[in-house]
Amino acid sequence: DKGGHRHFMAKEIAEQPSVLSDTLNAYLTDSGIALPDPGIDFAALDRLTITACGTAYLAGFTAKYWFEQIARLPVEVDVASEFRYREPPITPNTAALFISQSGETADTLAALRYCKGKASALYSVVNVPESSIARESDLALPIHAGVEIGVASTKAFTCQLTVLLLLALKAAEDRGHLPPAARDEILTHLRALPGVFNTALGRDEVIENVAQELAEARDILFLGRGLMYPLAHEGALKLKEISYIHAEAYASGELKHGPIALIDQHVPVVVLAPRDRLFDKTVSNMQEVMARGGRVVLITDAAGAESAGAEAWRVIQMPEVSDLLAPILYALPAQLLAYHTAVAKGTDVDQPRNLAKSVTVE
Ligand code: M6R
Repeated sequence: DKGGHRHFMAKEIAEQPSVLSDTLNAYLTDSGIALPDPGIDFAALDRLTITACGTAYLAGFTAKYWFEQIARLPVEVDVASEFRYREPPITPNTAALFISQSGETADTLAALRYCKGKASALYSVVNVPESSIARESDLALPIHAGVEIGVASTKAFTCQLTVLLLLALKAAEDRGHLPPAARDEILTHLRALPGVFNTALGRDEVIENVAQELAEARDILFLGRGLMYPLAHEGALKLKEISYIHAEAYASGELKHGPIALIDQHVPVVVLAPRDRLFDKTVSNMQEVMARGGRVVLITDAAGAESAGAEAWRVIQMPEVSDLLAPILYALPAQLLAYHTAVAKGTDVDQPRNLAKSVTVE
């Protein structure tokens, strides 16, 4: 049942305010963040490895920034197909975390099995609590996204990010890096996030118009810095997966180390840049693109649009959100851009060619 939507993907994108509330309600109590037993002792850890595939990997890649910045916990993040065959040494006091919507992805499951008896504990963030990955881990943390049918992962991604941010906050608390007042402020922002998503969903038409124009492109670049860098990869993955347009993501600062050679008037460049402490740096990269005729789609907030919007080809304006939460909110325009571009191209949005919802072969 598509609930009145044209595609499951559209329905699942629109469900995000409600499933994000479910996720938050499952982990937040009046006194703060509560994990199911046996919990996680983050103070005892020297390192965390995060392993996953595809969009789940990109949730993990985002979480690396959170764990390292807020909790001062070193994180290694890798795609499961590389991790498992590299035979990485697992040093003492290293916990291993696996992220999977289906909980059945063959490479992620194999990576988990590799870590058994080596890592101090195996944790998973899953959407299917009865899945193999959940059953074989010491602690499985469900994301409460509900059934996801569209091959392109949308609501699972934002729910994964939410659980991962809560874990990073818990880690910061356990490790003495997050005073209660700072924690409470972030939790207040998090509780407001489903409402902010609703506001952002109301701006869909602007994105649909931009997507009509992007549908003509052969190649599209995504740029981001800091927390927006993993998300740039997610935007590119989503777009290529369902619209079949070639898309690549780069760290904004890497542009002049090679990819800028690709820029001309035929290559739209999507720049993800809320007005945070890194904004000015990203704007100067954006100007480098424009100086070479590149057409910039700037995804930013009111302050960002005010200061740099006039220079961009198109601006998609997001509601205000605190810096830490920006990757969760900015996933939405990335999803909608991919969705509307695919619809404009007439591809099979829910069942893109050559892809399966759950990759259980290696
Ligand atoms: O079920 P999983 O989360 O383990 O699946 C991992 C990837 O196959 C999945 O995220 C894939 O990249 C999506 N189709 C992306 O939208």
